[in-house]
Amino acid sequence: MGSNENAGSGRIRGKVALITGSASGIGRATAERFRAEGARVAGIDLADDSPEGVVDLYRKVDVVDEAAVAQTVAQVRSEFGSLDIVVNAAGIAGGGAAHMVDTADWDRVIDVNLKGTFLVCKHAVTAMVEQGNGSIVNIASIEGLEGTEGGSAYNASKGGVVIFSKNMAMDYGRKGVRVNAICPGFIDTPLARQVFDGEVMQSYLDRIIAHSQLGRFGKPEEIASAALFLASDDASFVTGVALVVDGGLTAGHRVGLTALMGLE
Ligand code: NAI
Repeated sequence: MGSNENAGSGRIRGKVALITGSASGIGRATAERFRAEGARVAGIDLADDSPEGVVDLYRKVDVVDEAAVAQTVAQVRSEFGSLDIVVNAAGIAGGGAAHMVDTADWDRVIDVNLKGTFLVCKHAVTAMVEQGNGSIVNIASIEGLEGTEGGSAYNASKGGVVIFSKNMAMDYGRKGVRVNAICPGFIDTPLARQVFDGEVMQSYLDRIIAHSQLGRFGKPEEIASAALFLASDDASFVTGVALVVDGGLTAGHRVGLTALMGLE
């Protein structure tokens, strides 16, 4: 499914969105979908340039650089007149069992995934409170809801994003700002490909996918669809949720009875 196949409902037409991690994977697919739905989209990422046609305004910004984040939020507001939607999709992988984790690696994973989300939220929500409306979507992970072998730093960062999103929903709900998290399962992006690189890791990925109810890798466009829902007025009564989009991976554990019942 290409990002444009569902496009064009205009659910966020005229809205202004800021998307982090817009140069790749989930952030990129979300930026493309939001533009196709009529939003003006600003993107930030570490890449020197944005892939062509993905965003209306691009800035090379590290999400842990607070001054640059604040400047970007100000620039988006001055160029587009408002900031209605934020999707925090910038993120990195990293972990290992605790005794194996280099402390500097731990810090970087927590910094990018959790502090970066905090910094963008901090500066964006100020604008949204002034406007009296806004919708923030933080891309967490199912690994922020349950443990995984060797998860450590990554899972800690994503668990932090889930609870931080719920807390923001509490703090800003009466100011017209909705804040939700999405918890994707395994999605076919450069990040996932890097984690499961090589024959041995690929065999673990195959096992994970075999355990999911839909039996396949997710697509970045399927997370973009969930982000569109949460960002749009279709989700006007939804705040503080951690929406699982994982092909049923965390629905339950398969032991093969569906095959016995002729369902495989
Ligand atoms: P990706 O690697 O394709 O895209 C992430 C983007 O974030 C990259 O363009 C990267 O340059 C950017 N980025 C990284 N650090 C940054 C920083 N400090 N400042 C600005 N930009 C930065 O990865 P993917 O898979 O699209 O991941 C997007 C989000 O989804 C991440 O938060 C990831 O943890 C989360 N996620 C991904 C899953 C998957 O299976 N792919 C599953 C669950 C969550």
